[in-house]
Amino acid sequence: MRYKLRPVSPASNSPFSAEEADELVNKDEQYVMRPWTHPAGEPVIVARAKGCVVTDVHGKDYLDLTAGYFVNNAGHCHPRIVEAATEQLHTVLQVSGKHGTVAAVRLAERLIKLLPRSIDQAFFSTGGSEANEFALKMARQATGKKDIAYLENAYHGLTLGSLEVTASEKYRESAGKPLGNETYTIPNAYCYRCPKGKRPESCATECLDGVEEKIKARPTAALLAEPIQSVGGLAPPEKWWVRLDAIRKKHDLLLIIDEVQTGLGRTGTMFALEHYGLEPEIVTGGKGLSGGVGSLAMTCAGKDVVAKFFGGTTPTSGGNAVSAAAGLAMIETLVDERLIENARAMGEYFTQAAWALQDPWIGDVRFTGLLGGVELVANRDTKDVLGKKQIAAIKDALHAEGMLITVSGLYGNVLRLQPPLTITSAQIDTFVAALRKVLAAVRHSV
Ligand SMILES: Cc1ncc(COP(=O)(O)O)c(C=O)c1O
Repeated sequence: MRYKLRPVSPASNSPFSAEEADELVNKDEQYVMRPWTHPAGEPVIVARAKGCVVTDVHGKDYLDLTAGYFVNNAGHCHPRIVEAATEQLHTVLQVSGKHGTVAAVRLAERLIKLLPRSIDQAFFSTGGSEANEFALKMARQATGKKDIAYLENAYHGLTLGSLEVTASEKYRESAGKPLGNETYTIPNAYCYRCPKGKRPESCATECLDGVEEKIKARPTAALLAEPIQSVGGLAPPEKWWVRLDAIRKKHDLLLIIDEVQTGLGRTGTMFALEHYGLEPEIVTGGKGLSGGVGSLAMTCAGKDVVAKFFGGTTPTSGGNAVSAAAGLAMIETLVDERLIENARAMGEYFTQAAWALQDPWIGDVRFTGLLGGVELVANRDTKDVLGKKQIAAIKDALHAEGMLITVSGLYGNVLRLQPPLTITSAQIDTFVAALRKVLAAVRHSV
């Protein structure tokens, strides 16, 4: 089943004529390089965006369940963020990395006060992958050890250094060369498909048996992990983190927590590490940290790590003042407009609404705040993964219904639902109604 992607005639809210819009789409295809684009429905060339809605050049509105790839947590073009960035544009833009700006100082102070006591200073760079590379450098410089343990199914970026700690073979092969052998995986907590066949009530974190032996066998500097794995929305039970944290402390591993996607309110707390009371030595972040203006990332560390950090790179645009001002405005907006509370409430609403569909293809619904995933299965009892053809058709059909989503997960069968934290129950109802229609239509036609 294929849906027509563009409206035949432009809607009245398009800032472009139909011809201009077509030309823009064609020029995108001609001039913009974009690997791994889904063959149908994408890319959407966005003309404007507000709140949870983006509008393409043809005037078609989409409910953005990706928050601009998990960046615009306070919604697209929030007036407070726009105002802060505009004011900063008239003040100072970019200075040498040897110096500072008022905006970057204020953001660093705000972040350090929000993070656990174990964290003292922030180092700014330009993207999540880069922030994680700096975290690896810091951990190696601080410990004098080379190896890094990370979780199965982990995603920490696609640059050559961050690929070393990203699990997916598809991504790792994109390096075009063998990756180093200083990193290794330990089990993640995919409880819906527990490899030990345990149910949550009877689980004694058996998946972590054997981890100590693995760690002991290698000179390991750090354990790198997201508190909740964004790919597939996998939130470990508290006992899993308690045990893993104890193991890594026993063997003197630094803990690097990647909050690139889970941070800034996404999971219903400012940082997802708060769900587990983790006190890492290093925390990374990015995405919404720039408030959606330019790109900004952070590698924050405790004083012992900071003392041994001798850098090795100066990202020219790290800590850009406009991004920092916008990022700070986003944090204040999350707090003042109680958007983190809204993330918690809407995550629960989404969970109930998705289960209420009672659709035979919905195997699991996992929301922590608005970090959400709906896992699609062909059979609820056997948990067989829904076929690739059906998943592609569902994605296309949702797109045609005006829903921007991404699909992820170890088996590529999880609808990823991560809207701006401003989303309302009425907007969730609109999405769930579309999902009901699409699942039924694809079941009958593919
Ligand atoms: C958990 C996590 N870490 C790191 C990254 C890499 O960030 P970037 O794409 O800004 O390099 C991402 C991006 O999706 C991410 O989700």
